[in-house]
Amino acid sequence: MRTYESTRAHNKKPPSPSRLRAPWRIALVANLKDEFDWGPDAPSDAGSEFDRRETIESLAAALEEDGHWVTFCRADETLPEAMLNLRPQIVFNIAEGLGGDAREAQAPALFELLSIPYTASRVLANAISLDKTQTKRIWQQVGLPTPRFVEARSAQDVDDRGLKYPLFVKPVREGTGMGIDQGAIVHDARQLAERVAWMVEAYKQPALVEEYLPGREFTVGYIGNPGFPARRRRPWLYDNDGYHYFPILEIDSGVSVSPGVYGHAAKSYDIGAPGAPGYICPTDIPDSLRLRLTELTRKAAEAIGACDVSRVDLRLDADGEPSLMEINTLPGLNPAVSDLCIVAAAEGMPYPDLITEILYLAAERQGLLFDSLRYAEVGPHALAQPVPRGPITWGLAGE
Ligand SMILES: Nc1ncnc2c1ncn2[C@@H]1O[C@H](COP(=O)(O)OP(=O)(O)OP(=O)(O)O)[C@@H](O)[C@H]1O
Ligand SMILES: [Mg+2]
Repeated sequence: MRTYESTRAHNKKPPSPSRLRAPWRIALVANLKDEFDWGPDAPSDAGSEFDRRETIESLAAALEEDGHWVTFCRADETLPEAMLNLRPQIVFNIAEGLGGDAREAQAPALFELLSIPYTASRVLANAISLDKTQTKRIWQQVGLPTPRFVEARSAQDVDDRGLKYPLFVKPVREGTGMGIDQGAIVHDARQLAERVAWMVEAYKQPALVEEYLPGREFTVGYIGNPGFPARRRRPWLYDNDGYHYFPILEIDSGVSVSPGVYGHAAKSYDIGAPGAPGYICPTDIPDSLRLRLTELTRKAAEAIGACDVSRVDLRLDADGEPSLMEINTLPGLNPAVSDLCIVAAAEGMPYPDLITEILYLAAERQGLLFDSLRYAEVGPHALAQPVPRGPITWGLAGE
C-alpha cells in the first residue's frame, strides 16, 4: 500500500483515465483517528467514528491480495487533488468526512462530481442515514416500526409532546455510541431537559429524543443489492432477491459496563473482556423473529436507497415486537472489532472475501467491466467458497 501525500498541485492537469483492466487502481479513502486534534472543548469521545490505522492496513491487504493496486487517501481537503492525480478506477470508500450536517456524503459527492465509481451507499443515502431523525421520518412514512420521537434543537426547545417515559436521548448525527451512556435514558421532564441541554452544547447538533425500547438488541448485517445475482463474483452467496444476510448478532449489554445501553464505553472494550457486552452470533431466536428482522432490515435499507452493504440496529419493544433504531450505511470494517466483520466471521466468510465482495458489488452496480474469467485470475481467494463454522459465542452472555 502507498499513501498519497499532497503536493498541493491544484493546477496540474488530470491524466486521462485509462481503460479498465486488471489490476484495478483503487483509492482507499478514509479518515484516520490519530490525525486529528479535536481541541479542549470537544467531548471525550470526539472522533470515535474515525478509523484505526490497522483497519486501513487490513483493507489494503485484502484488496492487494486480490491483485489490485491500493493507494490510501485521506478524506480531507487534499482529497480532490488526490482523486484528480490518481484517477482511480474505483474508490473503496469508508470516509466519515469532516464537519457539516452530512459529512458521510462529502467524499461520495466528490466521487460523483469526478465520475469515479465507489463502494457502498451513494450521496443521498449516506446523508440520510447519518441523520437519525430524517431516517426515522422516512421509515415512518413507509410504515416501518421505529420508536416515536421528537427532535430537540436547543435547550429551550425541549417538549416531550406526550411521548411515553422512559425516553432515550442521542445526538442526531453521530455513531459508535458517541454521547450515549446510561444517562441517555431519562425518566421525567427534568432529566430530559438536562440531558438535551448537555447534548446540544457538547455535540453542537440537535438531540433525538425517542421512546426507550426495553427488549433484546440485535444487529443485522448484509451485503447485496436488489436484483438477480447471476453475474456476481460469488453468485451462490446471494438469495434470488440479490441479498446475503449474515447471521444475526445479539448484543447483551446486560453484562456490560452500561446495562441496557450499547453505548460508547461498552463499545470500547475488547470482545470478551470484563465490561464488554455479550456478543452472540448466530443468536438463538425463533425462525419467525429471524425472518422479521431480516425483512425489516431489507425494507429499512431500501427505503433510504442504501447500496452494497449496511448494518441495521433493532431492539424489541415492550410487546416483544422488533423496532428499528438506525441504519449504518458505512459500517465499521475492522476485522477484529467491527460488528459486520464479527457476523461475517461467524458465518465462516474470510475477511478478504467480505471486502472484495463489497468491491465487486459496487463494480457490478456501476457497470465496471469484468467477467468470470477475470475472477479466476485475481488471487487466491477469488474462487474460495465460504466454509461454514458452528455457532460462536463471545463474552459472558448465554453462559
Ligand atoms: N430508542 C432506543 N431504545 C433503547 N435503546 C436505544 C435506543 N436508541 C439507541 N439505543 C441504545 O443505544 C445504542 C446506540 O444507539 P444507536 O445505534 O442509535 O447509535 P450509534 O452510536 O449510531 O451506534 P453505532 O455504533 O451502531 O453507529 C443502541 O445500540 C442501543 O443499545
Ligand atoms: Mg448503532
